[in-house]
Amino acid sequence: MNPAQASHAPSHAPYVIAPSILSADFTRLGEEVKNVIDAGAHWIHFDVMDNHYVPNLSFGPMICEAIKPIAKTSAQVPIPIDVHLMVQPVDHLASSFAKAGANLISFHPDASAHVHRSIQVIKSHGCQVGLAFNPAEPLSVLDWVIEELDLILIMSVNPGFGGQSFIPSALKKIQEVRQRITSCGKAIRLEVDGGIKADNVRAIADAGADTFVAGSAIFGQANYKEVMQAFQAQLKA
Ligand code: DX5
Ligand code: ZN
Repeated sequence: MNPAQASHAPSHAPYVIAPSILSADFTRLGEEVKNVIDAGAHWIHFDVMDNHYVPNLSFGPMICEAIKPIAKTSAQVPIPIDVHLMVQPVDHLASSFAKAGANLISFHPDASAHVHRSIQVIKSHGCQVGLAFNPAEPLSVLDWVIEELDLILIMSVNPGFGGQSFIPSALKKIQEVRQRITSCGKAIRLEVDGGIKADNVRAIADAGADTFVAGSAIFGQANYKEVMQAFQAQLKA
């Protein structure tokens, strides 16, 4: 690549949009997954809630197993299943989701008694691993495990429900995580989750995020392709 071209090289990994099926129509979940993939979704985000770590109960490994075979593009290219565990304890369910076909598994460090071990459990199944940080959760655990991670997930809402508003303090946290990733030098994805819309995704990308979870901004809308195009247009801006 010549120097001129280099100046146009993006300073970030290719952007990823990961629709959260928590906001999908559960009476036709398979169709919803296919439609959002056809509309351009890069990943499928699985919000797993156990009514213990968060005050809500969503779905388990069996739903992941059911969705796995249809999580493909029309050209049969597999779409990564991005499992976000809002559960405590972590290790057993993480293993179950790995066996059910998860490609990436993130968990909350405050939900595991032994964070380093939970990371190793997920990696032992060949899955990519991430840590998810709630709005008030400090990043200090990254001092000791960032090298082990493939993904860092910043919650911009308090976990448990879709349709909440973006918490602005997440922007400063995203900036700090981007600095930590740059210092670490490893290709680690920076995912943000909660209250993301086409009208705030640019600011979230500018803060340093490269992977965006969106639930209610996509599912329930009249035209998924239009919504995805609106997101892409903002990210290209
Ligand atoms: C909240 C979940 C989020 C949520 C996103 O606990 O982790 O993924 O479903 O939904 P929206 O985009 O509607 O905030
Ligand atoms: Zn999530």
